[in-house]
Amino acid sequence: MAAYDYETHEYDVVVVGAGGAGLRATLGMAEQGLRTACVTKVFPTRSHTVAAQGGIAASLGNMPIQTSDGEDADGKPINPRTITDNWQWHLYDTVKGSDWLGDTDAMEYLAREAPKAVYELEHYGVPFSRTEEGKIYQRPFGGHTTEFGEGPSVQRTCAAADRTGHAILHTLYGQSLKQKAEFFIEYFAIDLIMSEDGVCQGVLCWKLDDGTLHLFSAKMVVLATGGYGRAYFSATSAHTCTGDGNGMVARAGLPLQDMEFVQFHPTGIYGAGCLITEGARGEGGYLTNSEGERFMERYAPTYKDLASRDVVSRCMTMEIREGRGVGKDGDHIHLNLSHLPPETLALRLPGISESARIFAGVDVTKEPIPVLPTVHYNMGGIPTNYWGEVLAPTADDPDRVAPGLMAVGEAGCASVHGANRLGSNSLIDLVVFGRAAAIRAGAVVDRESAVPSPNMRSVEMALARFDGLRHARGQVATAELRLEMQKTMQEDAAVFRTSETLAQGKQRMDDIASKLPDVAVTDNTLIWNSDLMETLELANLIPNAVATVTAAEARKESRGAHAHEDFPNRDDENWRKHSLVWFKGDEMKSDLGYRGVHLNPLTSHNDGGIDLKKIAPKARVY
Ligand code: FUM
Repeated sequence: MAAYDYETHEYDVVVVGAGGAGLRATLGMAEQGLRTACVTKVFPTRSHTVAAQGGIAASLGNMPIQTSDGEDADGKPINPRTITDNWQWHLYDTVKGSDWLGDTDAMEYLAREAPKAVYELEHYGVPFSRTEEGKIYQRPFGGHTTEFGEGPSVQRTCAAADRTGHAILHTLYGQSLKQKAEFFIEYFAIDLIMSEDGVCQGVLCWKLDDGTLHLFSAKMVVLATGGYGRAYFSATSAHTCTGDGNGMVARAGLPLQDMEFVQFHPTGIYGAGCLITEGARGEGGYLTNSEGERFMERYAPTYKDLASRDVVSRCMTMEIREGRGVGKDGDHIHLNLSHLPPETLALRLPGISESARIFAGVDVTKEPIPVLPTVHYNMGGIPTNYWGEVLAPTADDPDRVAPGLMAVGEAGCASVHGANRLGSNSLIDLVVFGRAAAIRAGAVVDRESAVPSPNMRSVEMALARFDGLRHARGQVATAELRLEMQKTMQEDAAVFRTSETLAQGKQRMDDIASKLPDVAVTDNTLIWNSDLMETLELANLIPNAVATVTAAEARKESRGAHAHEDFPNRDDENWRKHSLVWFKGDEMKSDLGYRGVHLNPLTSHNDGGIDLKKIAPKARVY
């Protein structure tokens, strides 16, 4: 192995990743006087949160909701009244959206803290769209309802036009700089540094623009590295979404949780995969098939196009399979917006109007957008509690905390989304749990103590792996192996799965993983070496993909985004539990285990918490 020098850095906290969760954690840590570094492989405002469009869910109750108890014989509303959103309805919708796999304590924390977290964003300077009275504008999104799923849709999703992620990211970055957080930009995190007894002590990084290596030692490492959408062929995710934190955690011998639950967003642009926000349907858009039929009315009579995303994606897929897809190959669906007033499109949906023009050649004021369910989000990730502390479960203690390590955002699995995430619950997850991690770190990180000396064996192992890939001279090009993985995942772990496709997917992914040691890196320089960086990313994507098919193949039921055609029903008796997948060393051999779902809320009903009867499992219909 080549000898490597590295520069050392010491901080109280090192945050890896500068998307919404990473920046919210960084800001919160720095505000409390913790010496905080944020290490990121892309410039912070280019992190994938920038692409988040429709908004951030919080029960602010800014938009009055008119309802009644039906109509009398003359068609007049019975008991007409105005109702106001509240956190308990948000919690109910999140529980139901998760198909009863989310952890109740974490979901309560999310729903309760959401309004506070959004008002903080407002005060930090996020330029939210406004109502006539100057309040934060909120729009309807799928699966967000009132009166514990019995009432009409609610406008709960706070929006900055259709560029909400962009607005949040720029604000949080500016605020973090103001608080003197230190940024290390275009540094690629190679591996976690772990003590012999499993304490995370830091992270080894490669600085992409000058080829130097950097060892960040810290009392707390926070992984905010995002999802792994790029394990699939077609995804709304940026090319940077390569599950780097999950990969590092897997190599550190810690498990990944609920990886079988991969969300397909109903409206990715056909062919290009770019996102068309659910806010488009929130503002009144609707889907049609080749017969011009608004088919969602058949499948989800109450909430129609605003049913939960897993439901809408399945319905679209069924329409296509049954021969009612649009286009010359009948392989996609139309999203109609042309009936909306042009001023609404310009005011509320300017970004997707532009995306539709650029990527589909469509003028949304005149024509429908061709769309297809597209991989969008990973419900699974690194298991954490609701403070963001990473869990290292054992048989005796399924909630054991791994010292020195946190995970937030899409990389983490708290688990608030369970088997399916509601639209706009992602941005709120980022800020609520980024903030929670900072609050927790403020309490547990000892500012006076010395930063721990790194375990040199762990440093050597990280350097050796880096060097091994840098000088890999095998037979398989990185791009070739990546494409094989992406096609496999797209075909075998899709919207609908069967025992056959999953068994095949597992076999194919195991074969692909076994080829990683035979990868070929043609460039072994260290400055702007995209060949090496993509190979490191592929080495992170592969355990994510293997864990996905492994857990999916084992789960013999249908729940949320895991639609198993041979086991079409949810089976709470046997499967209301989180999947865990561990890897042994670099060999990509996986082990499967399970841990129980947290059924207890944070607050008892007597103290103002939710009545558990309200969130008891039942059939999930919209
Ligand atoms: O449709 C959207 O705007 C996406 C939002 C989300 O995934 O939460």
